[in-house]
Amino acid sequence: MIPTVEWKDGIVRMLDQTKLPLETVYKDCKDYQTVARGIRELWVRGAPAIGVSAAMGLALGARQITASTFDEFWPKFEEICAHMAATRPTAVNLFWAIERMKRFAQENRGMGLDRVRALLVEESQRMLEEDIATNKMIGGYGAAFVADEDNIITHCNAGSIATAGYGTAEGVMRAAVAAGKKIHVYVDETRPVLQGARLTAWELMQEKIPCTLITDSMAGYFMFHDMIDVAIVGADRVTRNGDVANKIGTYGLAVLCKEHGIPFYVAAPLSTIDFTMDAGSSIPIEERDPREVTHVFGKVQIAPDGVKVANPAFDVTPARYVSAIITEKGAFHPKDVYKLADSANDPEKFRLK
Ligand code: MRU
Repeated sequence: MIPTVEWKDGIVRMLDQTKLPLETVYKDCKDYQTVARGIRELWVRGAPAIGVSAAMGLALGARQITASTFDEFWPKFEEICAHMAATRPTAVNLFWAIERMKRFAQENRGMGLDRVRALLVEESQRMLEEDIATNKMIGGYGAAFVADEDNIITHCNAGSIATAGYGTAEGVMRAAVAAGKKIHVYVDETRPVLQGARLTAWELMQEKIPCTLITDSMAGYFMFHDMIDVAIVGADRVTRNGDVANKIGTYGLAVLCKEHGIPFYVAAPLSTIDFTMDAGSSIPIEERDPREVTHVFGKVQIAPDGVKVANPAFDVTPARYVSAIITEKGAFHPKDVYKLADSANDPEKFRLK
């Protein structure tokens, strides 16, 4: 596992995923503005990785603030949080991480500013470690849904580098392999930014998990020919009713799965569940630069000059297409995920496996 993002001597070091798989390079962010830019420009992407990177960015920002009291510090810190929150609108982990850092700063306001700054760095490191542990638990629960010799299809990249490490959907695949199951993965290339082709195929090959790269439009062909047993994807936001926002194209894949009787699983940590939002229709969908559609790798033009382009980066899969949502607390029917908001509810009582 190579690090997605790390704190190194007062610098946030991000894996520049826009360069993968051709080059493995890191970008050093010396201020929160660069971290925000890195999130916006997809140096680091994937919902949990965005959350952890934002937390580290805020810890960096807290060190850039000149203030002598917490009251002087706080409005400046809130401004930095707003700057970070404006990077990408769909992945709720971003807002979850920002809220957690703000709450943590407030809880420790009496400690003195230097201590608050140091504690914010520690909190961002805790979030990184928790994310890896969470993904391993998701993998443990998810592996039960993968049978020996299964052909899995996945979309986008929900691997180690979309998280602090280990991955969500790919974490399930890793755990299945670790449990001795032989699997093979069909990887959707994932137009337009090609997270599947560039990142998932690369990660699976590094892990020596057998995989075949296909274009998004081939998924139906392989299902029709009985070559796919199960779909596993990640998520950017799950709402209380079990609707799932994920990379554009996920909805189409889920509909195809339903038509072919193929189970469709979503692997995501609780930090991806937006317990304040009732349904997927309220999820803000990021519209990205048309150049992502008209150019490959930002360089090679593949469409006529001036063509009108639409580029929604995510879609919402209604809960009725989702077989289960696999979290660190277990796998649940989408209609039950809202119950996880209340710690008085014992997940054991409504867990699927
Ligand atoms: O635009 P991206 O690359 O950030 O989109 C990522 C996805 O859609 C992932 O599937 C999702 O964030 C889950 S990552 C564990």
